[in-house]
Amino acid sequence: MMSASAFFSWRIILQTFIYSFVVAAVAIILNFEIQQQLWIYLTETSCLLKNNYILMEVSRPISECAICEHVTGPEILYNPTISEFTEIAYASKPLIIKGGAKHWPAIENFSFEFLVRLYDESGLEAYQSVEEECQFLPFKSNFQSLHEALHMNISVQPEGQWYIGWSNCNPYIRKMLRTYYTKPDFIPPDSESSSLDWIFMGSPGPGTTLHIDYVLRPSWQAQISGNKLWQLVPPPECEFNEFCHTFNFTAEKGDIVFIDTNWWYHNTFVLVEGGLSIAVGSEYD
Ligand SMILES: *[C@@H]1O[C@H](CO)[C@@H](O)[C@H](O)[C@H]1NC(C)=O
Ligand SMILES: *[C@@H]1O[C@H](CO)[C@@H](O)[C@H](O)[C@H]1NC(C)=O
Ligand SMILES: *[C@@H]1O[C@H](CO)[C@@H](O)[C@H](O)[C@H]1NC(C)=O
Repeated sequence: MMSASAFFSWRIILQTFIYSFVVAAVAIILNFEIQQQLWIYLTETSCLLKNNYILMEVSRPISECAICEHVTGPEILYNPTISEFTEIAYASKPLIIKGGAKHWPAIENFSFEFLVRLYDESGLEAYQSVEEECQFLPFKSNFQSLHEALHMNISVQPEGQWYIGWSNCNPYIRKMLRTYYTKPDFIPPDSESSSLDWIFMGSPGPGTTLHIDYVLRPSWQAQISGNKLWQLVPPPECEFNEFCHTFNFTAEKGDIVFIDTNWWYHNTFVLVEGGLSIAVGSEYD
C-alpha cells in the first residue's frame, strides 16, 4: 500500500515539475518576443536588411527536432474542418489543402496583366507604398522595384527567367485583392490574421534559394496559377537526426500550402507545366 507521505512527495515533485515547465515556457516566449522585436527594429531600416543574414542566424531560436521527426512529406487534407486543420497546422507540420482555393474568384481572374492593371489604376501611390511601408523582394531578377517588374515586356522577357515577391499594405489594393479571396474558412475564426498580403510571381525556373523567413507567425500560401515545387529542409540542428529528412512536393493550381516558414528551410521552383506561377498568402496564428 502506498503510504501517505510517498503520495505527498509525488505531488510535490509533480507540482515542481509543472511550475518549472511553466517558468521555462514563459522564458522561451519572452525570449522569442524580444528576438522578434529586435528583428522588427533592425529590418525597419530597409538598407540594413541585405546585410543581416549573420544576425538572422544568430538570433534564430534553437529549434525542436521533434517537428521534423518521421515527416517525409506534407500532410494532405481535402476540405478539412477547423479542428482537423488546427491539429496539424499548429504543430508546425507542413500541410497542403488540395484544391482549397479552387473556387476562389482569384483562380479565374488573377494574371500578370490583372496585377499590372490593378496597380496602375491605383496610381503611383500604390507602388510607393510597397517601397516605403512594405517590401519588394527581387529574388531571381534584376528588378529594382515592383513598378519596374510590372512594366517589363512580358512577351519579350528581357530579364529571362524571373521570380519576385512583394507585400502589399495599400488599403485600396488590399480591399480589391480581398474581393478575389478570403482567409481560408478552416483557419479558426479567432485566429489573428495579418493585414499584410504577400504575392509571389515568376516564370518557370528557380524561385527562391534555400532560406527561412523571419515573420511573426506561420503563413499560408495559395497557388493561384501555375505549379510550384517546394523543397523543405530541416534546420541545421536537426541535420544529424536520423528521423529528419529533406523532401519535395508540388503545390498545384488551387492548392493551399501551410508551412511554418520560420522553422523549415525552403526553396521553390516554378514548374514548366502550368506556366507563370502566381501565389498569394498571408500570416495567421
Ligand atoms: C473574372 O473572370 C470571369 C471569367 O473570365 C469574368 O466573367 C469576370 O468578369 C471577371 N471578374 C472580374 C471582376 O474581373
Ligand atoms: C513588347 O515586345 C513585343 C515584341 O518585341 C513588341 O511587339 C511590343 O510592342 C512590346 N510591347 C511594349 C509595351 O513595349
Ligand atoms: C527537389 O527539388 C530540388 C529543386 O528545388 C532538386 O534539386 C532535387 O533534386 C529534388 N529532389 C528530389 C528528391 O526530387
